[in-house]
Order: sequence, then structure tokens, then C-alpha cells
Amino acid sequence: MARNTLTVTDNRTGKQYEFPITDGTIKAVDLRQIKVSEEDFGLMTYDPAFMNTASCRSAITFIDGDKGILRYRGYPIEQLAEKSNYLEVAYLLIYGELPNKKQFEDWVAGITHHTMLHENMKKLMDGFHYDAHPMGMLAATLGALSTFYTDARNVHDPESRRQQILRLIAKVPTIAAFAYRHSVGRPYIYPDNSLGYAGNFMSMLWKMVEVRYEANPTLVRALDVLFILHADHEQNCSTNAMRSITSSDADPYSSAAGAAAALWGPLHGGANEAVLRMLAEIGHKDRVPAFIKEVKEGHGKLMGFGHRVYKNYDPRARTIKKLADEVFAVTGRNPKLDIALELERIALQDEYFVKRKLYPNVDFYSGLIYQAMGFPVEMFPVLFCIPRMSGWLAQWNEQTEDKETKIARPRQIYTGAVERPFVEMSARR
Ligand code: SDX
Repeated sequence: MARNTLTVTDNRTGKQYEFPITDGTIKAVDLRQIKVSEEDFGLMTYDPAFMNTASCRSAITFIDGDKGILRYRGYPIEQLAEKSNYLEVAYLLIYGELPNKKQFEDWVAGITHHTMLHENMKKLMDGFHYDAHPMGMLAATLGALSTFYTDARNVHDPESRRQQILRLIAKVPTIAAFAYRHSVGRPYIYPDNSLGYAGNFMSMLWKMVEVRYEANPTLVRALDVLFILHADHEQNCSTNAMRSITSSDADPYSSAAGAAAALWGPLHGGANEAVLRMLAEIGHKDRVPAFIKEVKEGHGKLMGFGHRVYKNYDPRARTIKKLADEVFAVTGRNPKLDIALELERIALQDEYFVKRKLYPNVDFYSGLIYQAMGFPVEMFPVLFCIPRMSGWLAQWNEQTEDKETKIARPRQIYTGAVERPFVEMSARR
């Protein structure tokens, strides 16, 4: 009967070691048994960027990169995008089950109750430069919230965590909208609690002098679906940042600021902005072959393509591509779509991309929709951050209850100088 173990031989000593295999892994710390002498620290694994390292156990999101599968708490993303709504999905991610009617009503009421910001936050945001990037404003303001809610430091109190979860999901659209209004020199618009989550966000963005702003229902639904698609994605870069920062028992506001900073990077959530800049730079679909040639020669990347996990079409990109037709029916077709479609057509048949299993990811088409809806490109990472907040909070909540959680503190391979005596200034070259 095959044993669920791994046997290794250290050829330096001829010794054999047997390690248990659980859930397709061995515990890295077991490798420390492999020594060449008693004083030897023992073997470590070397895995920059965690290419092959599980950092935690999680029941929130499942991805099969080869099959292009994404499920939140077991529910296929395609079904959630078609049948659910963002706040219901946020509840599902955090509490593990779809809410019943009473649970959903209480959840929505709790979030609606927390959409306002402390008035001092306006003074804080007024201090940003007129052309401050809204993602920088958002990250800074999330961190500042930690100074208003000092009870958030009780991270091991489930009721305190529930309060902060409601506040962060509720306030992130308000902060995002205030950042946008600041960037266009318009007065801040307060939340309209009679509107839904996406509709209220659009009102805070675009209400002018009319008594009540009501966005086109097709666009409201499209934004809500985009929020569903962006809500969580297991241990991505920004979620890893959230988990690492909160592993020191830091409060969720300061940690969300760090996660937002990680998300902003153009290799991560900032890619949607980079895609639109790339499409603008290409300018016309006739110039796509020349651009692809540049990429293949190593001059830049095809932004919105490739993924650490998906080695197939990102299921979110497929849904977003379908959503684009519904949005363009209202807003008019985004002419850059022709360039994007030509890029995809060529890339999906070009050996360079096929060999590297590079497919469109969530960021390739989303920006085309955002731009058609009237968002400036600087707001695109902000639109990613708003829904990802529920994913970060779900992962934080899960980690805080995980008995295996310890403060994140990786080891290193030291490559620096050996011991050497201090050199006085007079003796230095
Ligand atoms: C998100 O992790 C998540 O789940 C993230 C996310 C989420 O929901 O949280 O899904 C959201 O961040 C999506 C990804 C958005 N980023 C981009 O679109 C930026 C462009 N993509 C790449 O930078 C890249 O594909 C990454 C960062 C997404 C993944 O990088 P990896 O896994 O580290 O892969 P790699 O950089 O080692 O690439 C492997 C090869 C390299 O070529 P060789 O060295 O083998 O010759 O593929 C090439 C890369 O040069 N390559 C690309 C490319 N992406 C990888 N070549 C051209 N264009 C690209 N986009």
C-alpha cells in the first residue's frame, strides 16, 4: 500500500528522511531535519515570489489555472455574475454561505448605515495636490481611517472585526468618489442611501445640481457585475500583503492601505490603467503587428495578458468581454475595442504567447468598459480596489481565526559581507 510520504536522500551524508505529504504539500519546516552536522541550521526552501509555496489554508476562493475555473466558496464565478449581486457576494466571501433574506437585509442595512465619512476626512483629502492620483488618495485615506476607529485594534474580537468589515466595505466607495470629485474640482457628494451599492457610488461620482442622480440601470448592473468579478482571487499579491500586514495584529485599515498600495502596481490591479494607456499608444489596429513585434523583442509587455495562475483564458475576462456589448449598447462602442480584439486575435495564435500560455486576464477588457462609462483611466485601479476590499477582509477574517496563523517572517539566503572590523573615516578610501 503506497504511503503518503516523501523520502529524500541527502547525498552529502547518505542519510534518508521521510516526510508526510498532506494536501499535496510537505511542511517546509520539516526540511530543517536535513543537516550535515548538529550545528547545521538545516535545509530551507528558496522560493522568491512564492512561485511554489502555499502560505495558508483557505476555504474562500478556488482557482484551477489550467482549466480556467474560478469559484467563490464553491459557487462558479459565471453563476454569481449572472444571478447574484456584489453585496451578496461580499457576504458569501466573508461568512462562507449565501445569506438568507433576513441576513441579507441586515447586512445591507449595516453597510448602508456606514457609508458616511467623518467630516475631517474632507479636510484630509482637500490637502492632496489638485492632480493627485486617486489611488494614492484612496490608499492614504484608508490608512487615516485607522486613527478614527481605534476599536479596530481589537482584531481578535469577532464583533469588532464585523464592525470594521461593515465600515470598510461601506466607506471605500465614498472615499473613491471623494477622490474623483477632488481630482475634477467638484464638491463632494454625500451617499444617497436609497440607492444600491453601485448606484450610490455612481451618484457620489456624477451627481451635479439635480435633486437626485439615477444612473442608467444597465450601467449600474454592469458595474455591480464587475465588482463581483473583482471581489477575490485567493492569494494574489495584494491579498498576500493584507495577510502579511495583519499577521502582526495590525488593524484592518492600515493593512488595507498596504494592500491597496500593492494592488496599484501595474503588474497587478494597476494593469487595467496600463492596458488603456497601451491601447492609446498603439492608436490603431493596423499598428498592432508592429506593437506585438516590439513585445516579442522584449520591449515592454502586452498589458492585460498573462497570469501567475491562469494558463488558460481568465474566466473573468470572458464574462467582461460579454458585458462590454451590453455597456456599449448604452454608451456607444469604445473604438479602442477594435485594437484590443486585434491584439487578442494575433496573440492567441502567435507562438511567443501560446508557448508562454499568455491569455487575456481580468484587466484586458475591463478598462474599455470603465472608459466607455466615463471613468478616467486614473480611476481604473480604484474600481478594482473597491470590490477587492471584501476579498481582503474575508481573507483577514479567515486568517485571524486560523490557529496556524503566526506573524509572517520569511528567512533569507545571506549573500553579504563576512564579519569585518569598523573602518575609521580617516582610513577610508
Ligand atoms: C491581476 O494573482 C492574481 O490573482 C492577480 C489578479 C487578481 O485578481 O488579484 O488576477 C489580478 O493582477 C492580473 C494580472 C494583471 N497584470 C498584467 O496584465 C501585467 C502584464 N502581465 C505580466 O506582467 C505577467 O503576466 C504577470 C505579472 C501577470 C504574471 O507574471 P509571472 O507569473 O511572474 O510570469 P513571468 O513574468 O515570469 O512571465 C513568464 C514569461 C516571461 O517570458 P520569458 O522570460 O519566459 O521569456 O512570460 C512573459 C515573461 O516575459 N510574459 C509576458 C507577459 N506576461 C508574461 N510577455 C509579454 N506580455 C506579457 N503580459
